[in-house]
Amino acid sequence: MKGLDSSLVVLLCALLAESQDTARKAACRTVPGSPGYPSAAEWDAFNATVFGRLVTVVPSAKFCTTLPGGACTDDQWASALFRSTIPGAMDQVNWEQGYDLSPPSLCLRNGTTCGQGDVPLYSVEAETVEDIQAAVKFSSAHNLRVVLKSSGHDGLGRSTAPNSLLIHTHNFQNISFQDSFFVGSKDMGSVVTLGSGVYAHTLYEQGKANGKIAVGGSAATVCNAAGWIQGAGHSAISPTFGLGADNALEFDIVVASGELLKVNANSHADLFYALRGGGAGSWGVIVSVTFQAYPTFNATSSVIILGAENDTVASSLATLHAQHIFDWDSVHAGQYFWFLKNGTSADAPSILLLNTYMPNTTTSQSVALLTPFLNASLALPGVALLSQNFTYSDINDALYQADDSVGSNFVFGSRLIPAATYRDSPATIGKAYKQLLASGATTILGHLVAGGKVAENAKISSAVHPAWRTAKAHVIVTTEWDDSASLAEINQIRHFFQKVQVPIFDEMTGPNAGAYSNEADVLEPHFQTTFFGPHYAKLSAIKRKYDPEDLFIVGAGVGSERWDEWGLCRV
Ligand SMILES: Cc1cc2nc3c(=O)[nH]c(=O)nc-3n(C[C@H](O)[C@H](O)[C@H](O)COP(=O)(O)OP(=O)(O)OC[C@H]3O[C@@H](n4cnc5c(N)ncnc54)[C@H](O)[C@@H]3O)c2cc1C
Ligand SMILES: *[C@@H]1O[C@H](CO)[C@@H](O)[C@H](O)[C@H]1NC(C)=O
Ligand SMILES: *[C@@H]1O[C@H](CO)[C@@H](O)[C@H](O)[C@H]1NC(C)=O
Ligand SMILES: *[C@@H]1O[C@H](CO)[C@@H](O)[C@H](O)[C@H]1NC(C)=O
Ligand SMILES: *[C@@H]1O[C@H](CO)[C@@H](O)[C@H](O)[C@H]1NC(C)=O
Ligand SMILES: *[C@@H]1O[C@H](CO)[C@@H](O)[C@H](O)[C@H]1NC(C)=O
Ligand SMILES: *[C@@H]1O[C@H](CO)[C@@H](O)[C@H](O)[C@H]1NC(C)=O
Ligand SMILES: *[C@@H]1O[C@H](CO)[C@@H](O)[C@H](O)[C@H]1NC(C)=O
Ligand SMILES: *[C@@H]1O[C@H](CO)[C@@H](O)[C@H](O)[C@H]1NC(C)=O
Ligand SMILES: *[C@@H]1O[C@H](CO)[C@@H](O)[C@H](O)[C@H]1NC(C)=O
Repeated sequence: MKGLDSSLVVLLCALLAESQDTARKAACRTVPGSPGYPSAAEWDAFNATVFGRLVTVVPSAKFCTTLPGGACTDDQWASALFRSTIPGAMDQVNWEQGYDLSPPSLCLRNGTTCGQGDVPLYSVEAETVEDIQAAVKFSSAHNLRVVLKSSGHDGLGRSTAPNSLLIHTHNFQNISFQDSFFVGSKDMGSVVTLGSGVYAHTLYEQGKANGKIAVGGSAATVCNAAGWIQGAGHSAISPTFGLGADNALEFDIVVASGELLKVNANSHADLFYALRGGGAGSWGVIVSVTFQAYPTFNATSSVIILGAENDTVASSLATLHAQHIFDWDSVHAGQYFWFLKNGTSADAPSILLLNTYMPNTTTSQSVALLTPFLNASLALPGVALLSQNFTYSDINDALYQADDSVGSNFVFGSRLIPAATYRDSPATIGKAYKQLLASGATTILGHLVAGGKVAENAKISSAVHPAWRTAKAHVIVTTEWDDSASLAEINQIRHFFQKVQVPIFDEMTGPNAGAYSNEADVLEPHFQTTFFGPHYAKLSAIKRKYDPEDLFIVGAGVGSERWDEWGLCRV
């Protein structure tokens, strides 16, 4: 120090303190009590800029206690439509719980204590683009943890986080059909533009009224123009028209700078690439998405329920299903195939529920296409036909659902199963299903939503994992628990997919297989390749360009390796 002018020392110390402050600021988001967190007066001023649309947020169980009768009914608790009226609610209620906080902070239904857990502190119930822009700028200025939510359906808990500010886009309900839509000078023909809060069932309702159909999920309240599309978006009509991402033509999105960008093949083409499969919640706040639309058509949808006496029988049935899964390719069928087991012991019975959609196919044609599988199934000892129902209707009616049944605790894991496995070694599928059932799985949900146009669309340049293009099915295994489970049990369940079930999936897929990022395990250790395959480096570069300060971080999303599990501190 000797020889330095004392005023210079003061200046250097000030600079050092400031740089340490900057380092601290960059290291962690601000939380209540930390330097830089907005004061009450600053929150009030911000509230005024969003026209009073800032609300405080509580866990759904606490919200229920504020209702006139002091509780939610069981029907309300399990209704996605009802839960969507609660700013802090997640549909899988476990994501509201702060299991990993120290101390853990839970708010259970009918519980005697209630902590805020992983629920945001405030929400901007945005109604305009300006509200979103104000929220983004306020969050940047105060280095807040931001989360985005449209429906709260997220199965990886990515639309909630402790100490966060939620930007809630539920109110973006605009929906419009046009017969002509230009990207640059190219007329893309029939389209539908969906606000980021529009539910899948609203699309089907309006699609029917307009004589159109667009690729969408099989759910009532999933938002096609929010999480669904960014993950890739699968549909029962994907074998006919491709993935949601393949059908997206343009996005309106507010990025981290607060700018509203129009993003398409000609404008911000790099971001256009990322928004189509590069993962939900990592790029900015979507206002709306324009999708290709098609003339509607009739389809036969059917529900067939088969009983299987025990795991050995269920395994044979899974092999048989794998052998027949190409039977329906001529009509580009989509199908959900659930094995649901009643109990966990090896001799507990299962059902196989097949929900099949066949475009432009009459009921009798559909019966004929399913009969070879059905007859072969009934020839297996221990298999029984419990019910079957075929309905011919507008595809919009077939896909429409009134509400989703939610409100429970569960986690899941998944893999995309290559078509080659189904074609070349169907017995491998049955063997793996038997092991999954033996591991204690009671729900194995298969989605025949690939092949056909999904495979043909391999040439499209987007962030969609290439494993989608060679897959035949996306298979999920879920594990549930109820509120009586201990933290130790819950912790074991949360790690069960990685520890026990991934090796079983590997038998069907080979090692290092791909998975659908929207319906998967947020604890995937190599999410970069599991969810994004060879695209991760490119996605990282796009992330740095549009979100240099990592404002939009979600679990297992691009850039999340730089942050702790809550997105609160850099690691
Ligand atoms: C009953 C049910 C059925 C399903 N069916 C299908 C199906 O058929 N096909 C399919 O592909 N998937 C399906 N899914 C999975 C679904 O795609 C994901 O749950 C998806 O994350 C839902 O998106 P969301 O925006 O509605 O949910 P949210 O929980 O609101 O958000 C999900 C993710 O999107 C981000 N996000 C939300 N809003 C915005 C916004 N405005 N801008 C930018 N990012 C935003 C969030 O940060 C989060 O990361 C289903 C899920 C459920 C629960
Ligand atoms: C925001 O302002 C509105 C309208 O004045 C008010 O009702 C609401 O409570 C305020 N929000 C917060 C978090 O203070
Ligand atoms: C909570 O209480 C309601 C009635 O108020 C009851 O119907 C429900 O089963 C209870 N749920 C749990 C998880 O205890
Ligand atoms: C929704 O549509 C209305 C009427 O066309 C329009 O005024 C409004 O700006 C739209 N909102 C958004 C968020 O696009
Ligand atoms: C499941 O098993 C239990 C006990 O064996 C039985 O009471 C119940 O009816 C079964 N449920 C179904 C849907 O088969
Ligand atoms: C359904 O059939 C009509 C009439 O042949 C045809 O125009 C339309 O493209 C078909 N749609 C699908 C999804 O196959
Ligand atoms: C299926 O079984 C039924 C009844 O046993 C029989 O009439 C029919 O010919 C079989 N169809 C095929 C395609 O095997
Ligand atoms: C499963 O059920 C089949 C058909 O009834 C029977 O032959 C077999 O012995 C049973 N296996 C086990 C392990 O229970
Ligand atoms: C068959 O399904 C349709 C459509 O879901 C339903 O309206 C009808 O009641 C069902 N029929 C039977 C016999 O279950
Ligand atoms: C579609 O099905 C409805 C009955 O649900 C029928 O009235 C209509 O004529 C059918 N349309 C076509 C094109 O087959």
